[in-house]
Amino acid sequence: MKKLAFFVSGSGSNMQAILDAIRYGDIAATPALVVASKSNIKAIDRAKAHGIDTIVTADYKKMGYNHTDDYILHELSAHHIDIILLAGYLSIISSPIVEAFKHRILNIHPSLIPVFCGKGYYGMHVHDAVYASGVKVTGATVHFVDSGVDTGDIVIQEVYYIQPNDTPSDIQKGVLKIEHQIYPKAVKALVENRIKFVDNRCYIVYSS
Ligand code: GRF
Repeated sequence: MKKLAFFVSGSGSNMQAILDAIRYGDIAATPALVVASKSNIKAIDRAKAHGIDTIVTADYKKMGYNHTDDYILHELSAHHIDIILLAGYLSIISSPIVEAFKHRILNIHPSLIPVFCGKGYYGMHVHDAVYASGVKVTGATVHFVDSGVDTGDIVIQEVYYIQPNDTPSDIQKGVLKIEHQIYPKAVKALVENRIKFVDNRCYIVYSS
């Protein structure tokens, strides 16, 4: 069974959606490690409730490492991690990790990439910008992680139709519901080797 590591910085509701899919038998994988950028976040409570080993990257010195990356890479290797899932992780993934896990790191972003993404577009900043722009649709994107910010190959996207009375917070809630639907689908496809690359685009294959 493929082993998953979740990288989190906040509530961890996307991680929870994937853990639920594993529990219901929809995704055949083992959640083996949670990498948190800080302590005192709800995602750590969720990880502990599932008995998943958890590390806090900010503890790297206390754990005897000179650099955060050394700590993370050591733990990924010690837990035999196959796939990394960024789920609201607010730190940048360093190039040694990106290179070691090429096409094995997914991220979820709360907009339709390539708009409202990149540096500075995280959390409510995304939805505030969407609201201010007056666009009528937004949505969520699952993509592979490469060395840029929100630039990797797009795996799956889903649209949220903005309603006339929607506030930025309504948009955020609507998009988050979509995230919880599409992230488990993308993870299932990756775990089952059903993501194919053709001419620099990737597709989920639903039947052989
Ligand atoms: C989500 O909106 C995700 O798209 C973004 O950060 C948020 C994390 O939410 N990358 P949660 O921690 O999964 O609840």
